[in-house]
Amino acid sequence: MPEVKRDAEGWPLSCYLCGRDLPHYERNYKDLASDPLTLNRLKQMSVRCERCDSREDARRQKTETQSRVEMALSEARDIGDVTPEFEHCSFRHSIPEKERSPDAWSHAGQWQPGQANVYLHGSPGTGKTFLCRCLLWVCLEAEKSVAEVTAKELFMLSTGFDNAAKWARLKSKHTVLVDDVDKGVTSPNHVAAFWEFINARVNAGRRTLFTSNMPLSALLAQLIAADPKNESTARAAIDRLKPVVHFKIEGASLR
Ligand SMILES: Nc1ncnc2c1ncn2[C@@H]1O[C@H](COP(=O)(O)OP(=O)(O)O)[C@@H](O)[C@H]1O
Ligand SMILES: [Mg+2]
Ligand SMILES: [Zn+2]
Repeated sequence: MPEVKRDAEGWPLSCYLCGRDLPHYERNYKDLASDPLTLNRLKQMSVRCERCDSREDARRQKTETQSRVEMALSEARDIGDVTPEFEHCSFRHSIPEKERSPDAWSHAGQWQPGQANVYLHGSPGTGKTFLCRCLLWVCLEAEKSVAEVTAKELFMLSTGFDNAAKWARLKSKHTVLVDDVDKGVTSPNHVAAFWEFINARVNAGRRTLFTSNMPLSALLAQLIAADPKNESTARAAIDRLKPVVHFKIEGASLR
């Protein structure tokens, strides 16, 4: 800490944090009191300049946000909305050598919470789940609620009384990752649940991220094959994803 300059009476003349001379208008605390006792106490006070004051404010706000993010994360983990691995999959934890698909990473880098749905496809092990978790982290840091679920889990949750609460919660989260969406849809019930999930989320203005081994057109074909009599439901579900950022991640498996 820099030494505080004082005037002849002992009043501080410089900021105790940066040492900068206090401008005259920042020194009128002398007028705050008239009784000698209070005046004396004011004299001993550490005074900081406006610049340091706003920095301190910003720092305090940042730590408050950080602790809110930490609380949201531990809550999400406790109720099973995110997995323990999630914690280690953010842009901060990303290893540059593993970002071998610049196009995919630049798409992801430009995405903002709430902006568009994301459909990311690529071969197994290329880092799809990792990259989508990075996006969930961006949401979490913007204090938006997040959850991740595999398509298989999603369809399990869509049925059964016991799962009703979690199913409803998933529909209401700000951003949800549906991992390996192509691995889940095999029956007419799945197509119906998929439609219900997407429709509810889109109507509520929520965003969903999908990872898949196949492009969106192939997923549509799979949905139609799962319920050939309801081709229109499948088409409506895929159409409902708009606006959607649809991109591919390249490379060999990182595993
Ligand atoms: N950018 C990255 N930085 C660090 N590790 C990564 C990165 N991308 C992927 N990985 C790791 O590589 C492995 C495969 O990634 P994953 O996202 O599971 O692939 P996919 O979902 O495409 O099958 C995982 O262990 C993951 O943690
Ligand atoms: Mg994956
Ligand atoms: Zn200062």
